[in-house]
Amino acid sequence: MVYEVYVRSFADSDGDGDGDLKGITARLGHLRDLGVDALWLTPFYRSPLADGGYDVADYRDVDPRFGTLDDFDALVAAAHEQGLRLIVDIVPNHTSDQHAWFQEALASPPGSPARERYIFRDSPGDRPPNDWPSAFGGPAWTRLPDGQWYLHLYASEQPDLNWRNPEVRAEFESIVRFWLDRGVDGFRIDVAAGLFKDESFTDLGDRGRRVVNGPIYSRPEVHEVYRDWRRILDSYPGDRMAIGEVWTDGPEELAQYLRPDELHQVFQFDLQLAPWSAPAFRDVVTAALAAVAPTGSAPTWVLSSHDSVRHLTRYEQSGDLPGVGYARARAALLFLLALPGSAYLYQGEELGLPEVTDLPDDARRDPVWFRSEGAEKGRDGCRVPLPWSGKSEPYGFGREGTRPWLPQPERWASLSVEEQKSDPTSMLSFYRMALELRRELLPELPDELEWLESSGTMVVYGRGDLVCAVNFGENPVRLPKGRPLLTSVPLYGDLLPGNAAVWLKV
Ligand code: GLC
Repeated sequence: MVYEVYVRSFADSDGDGDGDLKGITARLGHLRDLGVDALWLTPFYRSPLADGGYDVADYRDVDPRFGTLDDFDALVAAAHEQGLRLIVDIVPNHTSDQHAWFQEALASPPGSPARERYIFRDSPGDRPPNDWPSAFGGPAWTRLPDGQWYLHLYASEQPDLNWRNPEVRAEFESIVRFWLDRGVDGFRIDVAAGLFKDESFTDLGDRGRRVVNGPIYSRPEVHEVYRDWRRILDSYPGDRMAIGEVWTDGPEELAQYLRPDELHQVFQFDLQLAPWSAPAFRDVVTAALAAVAPTGSAPTWVLSSHDSVRHLTRYEQSGDLPGVGYARARAALLFLLALPGSAYLYQGEELGLPEVTDLPDDARRDPVWFRSEGAEKGRDGCRVPLPWSGKSEPYGFGREGTRPWLPQPERWASLSVEEQKSDPTSMLSFYRMALELRRELLPELPDELEWLESSGTMVVYGRGDLVCAVNFGENPVRLPKGRPLLTSVPLYGDLLPGNAAVWLKV
């Protein structure tokens, strides 16, 4: 069980409105009580925060907004003391435009070694060198006053590195070692399938961005990098690991990253993309298990992250009864936690936080919002700082009287950790119970999953003598056989209500 900490929005110890490392250290008890095994920290490195820290200006330092290297060391020590592992984000596809290398490249002429660390190209006329789009909207190329263009698959403040340059490769190996030396247990690799682009830089045309053998992602060369990183990870004491953020077209491509000398895990995002429907959930699990089966690696499950609309809100379509998203989110947790493999939780889901859909436009910070000129709202709505206590902003996120970097809704008082902690029916209590029970049952559970029933709106699967049943429909259905261990809502006699799930012992 890994818990994603979006550092800027977790806890603010110094009252500047941004969460920080000391804030996390002070709140580790929450994660221990929740019952997770590890934390994944989103980037806290020196950064102008053009993309919330995924634009790194110095990979070996902590941004002053988030603390110091000493604070980092203290956090690692405290996490380990509480039995929690710590994974950090590494961003190898691009740097910040404020990184010393890019600044040097800007000050150097075309063709210079400084420009060779990035992807600069000439192009006649006013047209970019090819038709590649930025994932955040607009073209993936920006032109400099001297006429050259540089590539950025994301914001223009995130120039893509040239991984064909050995200097880039050596630099990242040294960065990996830098954080392993400081005691991290592993890495979450950002845009892990990026890195190498096809050297011909041909137009995509109508092929789309993510085609197998396309020019942008999953070029064969990328695997050599992870083989090198794996050798480094394995050379350190303890169990160090890496998980890649890999978007692929198909299972064969995904499995390549999981070869025994490459990454330990990759994110499988299909559950996060699946609508609330019995066949959709079942199909996703079947496909995800099949994808990793030949590799021996554990499947990974994600419902929410800092990049997507919170699932509680996703499960509540217009026209649905109010509150149905909440009920479905509880049921989805039981579905998720009984599956074999690793689950990655996103901060705030344990509080049942909804997406904040009504942020004022002038509060928005996501480059997606700016680059699409407001056509896309972006990802700020899932990044609103956590409510810890109190009746109004900042809800214990920071000191009384301070303003969080994104405004918190007025209606969040009842969602705070303090409010939910002592309420046995709260989402937080439910998460704790489910995680605790999972931990107890886990040693006895076989890795294999067996589909017991999947007809209409019901999905029932078993792992040994644990059965998980989810009713995706609106009407109650008869419970499968077994003794209920945990339910997402109270049962009606032997009926499982709609939008609910149960764990049973047979
Ligand atoms: C990944 C991150 C996302 C970021 C992007 C560019 O997809 O999860 O937050 O914007 O990479 O670094």
